[in-house]
Amino acid sequence: MEHLRAEGIGADAGSLGELELAAAAGFEPSRIELNGNARTEEEAEWSAARGIHSVNADHVGELDLLDAAAARAERVLRVALRINPGIETPGHQYVATGHDEAKFGVAPREALEVWAARERWPHLNLGGVHVHVGSQLMDPAPLRGAAEQAIGLARAAAARGAPLGWLNLGGGFGVDYDGRAEFPLEHYAQWIVQRLADATVGSPEPVRARASSAGSGAGAPGLRALEIVLEPGRWLVAPVGVLLSEVLWIKHRDGRRFVVLAAGMNDFIRPALYHARHRIVPVTPRPGAASAAAVVGPVCESGDVFAEDAALPPLEPGDWVAILDAGAYGAAMASSYNGRGRLAELVVREGRIVRARAAETPADLARGRASDVLA
Ligand SMILES: Cc1ncc(COP(=O)(O)O)c(C=O)c1O
Repeated sequence: MEHLRAEGIGADAGSLGELELAAAAGFEPSRIELNGNARTEEEAEWSAARGIHSVNADHVGELDLLDAAAARAERVLRVALRINPGIETPGHQYVATGHDEAKFGVAPREALEVWAARERWPHLNLGGVHVHVGSQLMDPAPLRGAAEQAIGLARAAAARGAPLGWLNLGGGFGVDYDGRAEFPLEHYAQWIVQRLADATVGSPEPVRARASSAGSGAGAPGLRALEIVLEPGRWLVAPVGVLLSEVLWIKHRDGRRFVVLAAGMNDFIRPALYHARHRIVPVTPRPGAASAAAVVGPVCESGDVFAEDAALPPLEPGDWVAILDAGAYGAAMASSYNGRGRLAELVVREGRIVRARAAETPADLARGRASDVLA
């Protein structure tokens, strides 16, 4: 996180815990934004007290909570409304977030009504629109569709006398887990810039693209600067993380080879949860031809499988394998299911291996037990 901060990137938090993590990593409040669909009073309090870049509100009811927190903090809190643009995305249904049935966001019409009535929340700067239609998109077409809606709403809001200050176009930039293709990032960025430039034509309140990320957004004379916020997650971190695991056992049954790893679905749940498939490579390959293997974990679940049919060279117990592109939705989604403490996290920094998080031991798990009588 410190490295990303040093690169000038902001932090997108989804909970009070992530707000604290972002602050602990040194992100200035003005570089932190808050997402999620179940805002709590504590999160509102934290955000208002520190004056974070923005909160993306998921429904209108949250605005009263945020306004009250901002009033107590004697601050104006920047709030974007997340809209549900009704856009379908390809891929696993659990990472689709912008279609009609998705739990996220308000109807675009409702957002326009809120912006037109923004004086109801005097401690909020209700100047943003937020869209995030899904994750793991290799084709930016759904992102473009969502951006079109956000731009259309910004124009409509301006026409109603309630101009917006920023567009948050979300994340969703995909990673090719086969390692062959790349998300067309530059192409997409050029499209955004061009589309915003076009949107000034005939706009009652011309817009101007501004560098992405947090900031105040003062514009050139006569122009209203529209700040663009992007929320790439996976694309930034997936390729730079690997899950290293020891091979515990090799089992053969009816001509099938099972490679039993020490790592399991509690350490890395994407394969079990989304049926995701990651490349698996031996750390030190042994000589010999590759052949088929099922790569499985040690958890008591038949879904604890990393690959049904990987082509792997000979492996022996005690060897190590790397599961590639595990930097996103990996450690962050790990649990201690089956009494398996979470793994250590190691970072390579200036050629040295630094332990960024210690492994949870069985003793740590036992220590968390309690029998406090609460009522
Ligand atoms: C609101 C929001 N923005 C951005 C992201 C990051 O998405 P991705 O990792 O696909 O870039 C997420 C992921 O859950 C999200 O919920």
